[in-house]
Amino acid sequence: MTRIVVLISGRGSNMRAIVEACQNGIIDGSVVAVISNTIKAVGLDYAQSQNIDTAVLDHTQFSDRNEFDTQLLTLVDSYQPDWLVLAGFMRVLNADFVNHFLGRMVNIHPSLLPLYPGLNTHKKALAAGDTEHGATAHFVTPELDAGPTIAQTRVPVLPTDTEQTLANRVLQAEHELITQALQLCVSGVARYTNGKCTLGNNMTKIPATGHQQGEPS
Ligand code: GRF
Repeated sequence: MTRIVVLISGRGSNMRAIVEACQNGIIDGSVVAVISNTIKAVGLDYAQSQNIDTAVLDHTQFSDRNEFDTQLLTLVDSYQPDWLVLAGFMRVLNADFVNHFLGRMVNIHPSLLPLYPGLNTHKKALAAGDTEHGATAHFVTPELDAGPTIAQTRVPVLPTDTEQTLANRVLQAEHELITQALQLCVSGVARYTNGKCTLGNNMTKIPATGHQQGEPS
């Protein structure tokens, strides 16, 4: 069974979508641990309710960022993951960490990358007057929010949208996106190869609102 570890920092709704997809057989794998950098992450409660191992490595207890990353690496490795997912994990990880999990670490980001890396993506999309917004599932590389795209999903921006209504619409789409993208990875269809995402022939459809990226191999 493919072993998946998920890192969260808060609500954990994407993590929940992944857990449910594993339970329903949409993802051919199992979430073996959910790890947070803060005890305040409410998503931990859900993971515990599903009898999934949880752990907290409190970043405020570390004066040295690299020391936190080193200990997190050891903690994640102790669960022997095949895949590591950053699902609302609000810490930037150093190059040693990223390179250790290169090609088997996926992030979900709430924008149509390369548009709007970093924070406040919904605010930025509204300020730019975009008519379309969305989310990206991508392999993680050392440069923040810049790794190769596995898949994206798009949602319309409505004239009446506030940051909150837009965020809610994107979040709904994220849940489907991360489960579909992760299954592409777990099944070996999506692969990280020489800094790119290649997609094999055995393609499955990504959400009706979305489209696939990557390069056919
Ligand atoms: C999501 O929008 C994710 O894309 C971003 O942070 C949010 C986390 O939401 N990185 P949740 O914790 O998965 O509910």
